[in-house]
Amino acid sequence: MIHEKKDKFPANFLWGSASAAYQVEGAWDKDGKGPSVWDVYTKVPGTTYENTNGDVAVDHYNRYKEDVALMAEMGLKAYRFSVAWSRIYPEGRGEVNEKGLQFYDDLINELLKYGIEPIITLYHWDVPQALLDAYGAWESREIIEDFNQYCITVYKRYGDRVKYWVTLNEQNIFIGLGYRSGIHPPGVKDLKRMYEANHIANLANAKAIQSFRKYVPDGKIGPSFAYSPNYALTCCPNDVLAFENAEDLSNNWWMDVYAWGKYPKAAWNYLEKNGLIPTVHEGDFELLAAGKPDFMGVNYYRTTTVEMNPLDGVGEAKMNTTGKKGTTKESGVPGVYKTKRNPHLEATNWDWEIDPQGLRVGMRRIESRYGLPILITENGLGEFDKLEEDEAINDDYRIAYLRAHIEACQDAISDGVELLGYCTWSFTDLLSWLNGYQKRYGFVYVDRDEHDEKELRRLKKKSFYWYKNVIATNGEQL
Ligand code: BG6
Repeated sequence: MIHEKKDKFPANFLWGSASAAYQVEGAWDKDGKGPSVWDVYTKVPGTTYENTNGDVAVDHYNRYKEDVALMAEMGLKAYRFSVAWSRIYPEGRGEVNEKGLQFYDDLINELLKYGIEPIITLYHWDVPQALLDAYGAWESREIIEDFNQYCITVYKRYGDRVKYWVTLNEQNIFIGLGYRSGIHPPGVKDLKRMYEANHIANLANAKAIQSFRKYVPDGKIGPSFAYSPNYALTCCPNDVLAFENAEDLSNNWWMDVYAWGKYPKAAWNYLEKNGLIPTVHEGDFELLAAGKPDFMGVNYYRTTTVEMNPLDGVGEAKMNTTGKKGTTKESGVPGVYKTKRNPHLEATNWDWEIDPQGLRVGMRRIESRYGLPILITENGLGEFDKLEEDEAINDDYRIAYLRAHIEACQDAISDGVELLGYCTWSFTDLLSWLNGYQKRYGFVYVDRDEHDEKELRRLKKKSFYWYKNVIATNGEQL
């Protein structure tokens, strides 16, 4: 639809920005924090870009007041951050670390002082190493209760002040990269183990939502899904079928479970024939159905274009983690689908296709299929930024990217999508898990690189001033 007149953003729209504990905090072993799997994994040479890790990251743990003051200066309405499980429970379970709880108390109070709505992510990939050592973390059902107890502890502590919560950040990514491609911890390449771990993560997600109803009855909660809507490369029926396959296996496999507590049938049958379906215990589907979220959290960066892939076709390819444009290869599942470059779209230096309309398409699909409100929990552009001699950072390309995606949000609202808010990724620059510090996303430049922490000075980019005005005009001036 082409709207002659677009609807306005709602008055209470959450103009936000997001981060994750491991990518910003640093202080990896301070004040009683236990190691997470990322603290250990990144120390294995060759696992990350130039062996970068989050030991110091951008030192948000020590500089959170300065960072929140910048958010206040910008007029930010909401800040999404994650709690590091191993700050609260250094061993993943057992004894609580009061100093860890205190840190997030202070951060929340600092945000509220300026009227910034805190949005807590309960899990952004940093499972305590102790739980991996004890029982294989997401591969054991023991994690369901340990995660639930950790969640209850933070609900009880912050639920009086925090009303928006995200359960698991990008389950499809941490499970896929952790157990299929083996490039995230625990570095496993085994599809059967992947689907088993994923089912257990689904149960942990549902259980955490079930508990939430008891402890934060007036709050809203949902998962953040890494949503890359698929397109068929052509209208050839085989490509359209590949598109349906890709939707079921790469999107509906997660979102159907969140919204309805069941797996899409064609994907289930396909995996069953290939010996890959997860073990289901009595009561699993009842629990999954009981874990219905209040909103679908969407992390959106790009769409995926697919065509049919023969049975002897391509399998999974390596990701571009260098920023050398055009180095990404076709990737796929033989007999199911394979990815193609979309000839209509420009891409970033990391080969992520830039597609604002795809965000609208994705939101429309969620609205039609699940009828749930949506919270954009991440959207942003990772690029090389240049610090000029006068200390300016002229990131016009980021402004163009965000502007187009916010326009797509307004179109989706005009289409009838209930959109609660829009969080950019990210507020300050931060550590990219596999891409070091060269791939920057923030409104605030942090002066450090892979090998030199320098003084970690914060410098406002051009996009900082632009987003400030977007917020001030409630999206009227883009
Ligand atoms: C999302 C994650 O996948 O995308 C973030 O939730 C991540 O943690 C972001 O940083 C951007 O990805 P990358 O690989 O460019 O850092």
